Amino acid sequence: MTLLLDLEHPEQIDRVIKCFKMDEPVALPTETVYGLAAPLNNEKAIAKVYKLKARPYFNPLIVHVLDWEQAMRYLDNPPLIAQKLAEKFWPGPLTLLLKKNSRVPDLCTNASPWVAVRAPKHPHFRTILHRLNSPLVAPSANRYTQVSTVTAQDVIEELGPFGLEAVVEGGRSELGMESTIVQVLNDNELQLLRPGALSLESIKRFLGEGIKIYSAKKSEENLSPGQAAKHYSPKIPTFFIETQNDLMDIAHLDFSKSTLLRVFKKDAPWIDAKNFGKEFILSPENSDLMAATRLYRCLRDLESSNTSNIIAIKSSDDGLGLAINDRLRRAAGRG
Ligand code: TXA
Ligand code: MG
Repeated sequence: MTLLLDLEHPEQIDRVIKCFKMDEPVALPTETVYGLAAPLNNEKAIAKVYKLKARPYFNPLIVHVLDWEQAMRYLDNPPLIAQKLAEKFWPGPLTLLLKKNSRVPDLCTNASPWVAVRAPKHPHFRTILHRLNSPLVAPSANRYTQVSTVTAQDVIEELGPFGLEAVVEGGRSELGMESTIVQVLNDNELQLLRPGALSLESIKRFLGEGIKIYSAKKSEENLSPGQAAKHYSPKIPTFFIETQNDLMDIAHLDFSKSTLLRVFKKDAPWIDAKNFGKEFILSPENSDLMAATRLYRCLRDLESSNTSNIIAIKSSDDGLGLAINDRLRRAAGRG
């Protein structure tokens, strides 16, 4: 059975450290989603992370650090702009892909010269980082291709049956959406590898004119292998409707047994909610932040409800809409 640890009791911090010493990963809360953590210097525990998730080894892991100073120990000559981004957005939902040095084991980068680093904000994650005084690798705490977890209970349901030793209780993840991943090519060029909880607009505003930020082209997407076409996927059939033409794809479904999932109330007025068994609106108030925060909770709740299909409607790509649409598209296997 998976232990639920409460770090308000200092001896439970020791318990986390003890698990790591026994080569067991521990699920920890972050402000984005829960992560399945193992020390960077413990290859046996890292191997178990892959096993528990049933994740292929070619899919590398994010290295979580306390701050830029700690990140620097693992990097090879990072461009100055990377430090500026870290100083502005860390701790928080921004992951930077940078050239690594030999302190980073090949096991967590798939032997690539690039490593993904981020400083998480959740105080419990930081407590453990302080105690270890070294980084933790942590993918999202869900089985490969499944929906990410945003509460300790989600993690227990998702990974408990596969032998997860312990999870730290950290409440509901504040943002509920993974970090934004940006590859820093040089001081003037960046590439967005995964939209996430930090909007592209916020990054652009900070970078100002003159610094380019490209969107990863399809052909280059295998650089971030987790961006597979099918990912973040509920256990029930999920469809993503971008335009009226896509309605043909769902014509064969029994709408009365399906759930219509809108991001905002105003999306796709050409679909009549009355035809569907249920309608769910992620943010009736039109807040992209609220919609992003509720997305995985909603998908998990629908998975365990009696609905037969999820029919998700594309919304605007503005702000966190880009990440929401990305996840819904992949949930439908159309990445
Ligand atoms: O918010 C987040 O980023 C969460 C929390 C736990 O920090 N973590 C997370 O990890 O979403 P994961 O493993 O589920 O997704 C990380 C993505 C994957 O698509 C992976 O392929 C990519 O980052 N990635 C990690 N290291 C990489 C590397 N060295 N090169 C290219 N892509 C990398
Ligand atoms: Mg993931």
